[in-house]
Amino acid sequence: MISGQLFLIVINGCQNVKVQGVKVSAAGNSPNTDGIHVQSSTGVTILNSRIGTGDDCVSIGPGTSSMWIENVACGPGHGISIGSLGKESQEAGVQNVTVKTTTFTGTENGLRIKSWGRPSNGFARDFLFQHAVISNVQNPIVIDQNYCPGEKNCPGQVSGVKISDVTYQDIHGSSATEVAVKFDCSKKYPCTGIKLAHVKLTYKNQPAEASCSNAGGVASGLVQPTSCL
Ligand SMILES: *[C@@H]1O[C@H](CO)[C@@H](O)[C@H](O)[C@H]1NC(C)=O
Repeated sequence: MISGQLFLIVINGCQNVKVQGVKVSAAGNSPNTDGIHVQSSTGVTILNSRIGTGDDCVSIGPGTSSMWIENVACGPGHGISIGSLGKESQEAGVQNVTVKTTTFTGTENGLRIKSWGRPSNGFARDFLFQHAVISNVQNPIVIDQNYCPGEKNCPGQVSGVKISDVTYQDIHGSSATEVAVKFDCSKKYPCTGIKLAHVKLTYKNQPAEASCSNAGGVASGLVQPTSCL
């Protein structure tokens, strides 16, 4: 267990690691400094932590399963991100991740899943994002399957990563941009089983907007912006 340290943390190839009470703070303008990065690991738990950095607060890479994140405050930073996935054509998937009771303050993203627009056998499934408070976040809920920095090595290609069974429940607050919910999924492997329940995101005190491509699922309870699934 790691407690109360001031480091940027990498968990790679581990089982049953518990991180709690960590305060990570790096300058908001420090590029590519993830707060906590996890990959190729099973049973990682992150509890009661406060993370501010120039990149992802928590990033979750290929080969991660049975991960639990609870009571984490993120900001500044790029949010909690699953991915980037699908950079390699042969890649382990990510599954069974719970992200519960989080706050995002002034971040670039809130809850993000991101994959390269390239062929891959990777997958991302069985995620629960529950009880998030969003304040002034540019992309509160986002799936981006067309990640391709510099448009190098992927133009015209689509992501092979299959995304399924992702639930967003009780997510509310304010978006810093008009589009608060964006599902931009793979043309070849559309996202399936996306569930939105009790989501309320505003932009300038008005209902925000949602945008979907190649995304299927259901909405229940109050969902604002109106679901485009
Ligand atoms: C999912 O992950 C949780 C820990 O986050 C674990 O307790 C549970 O057994 C896992 N479920 C499956 C089906 O692996």
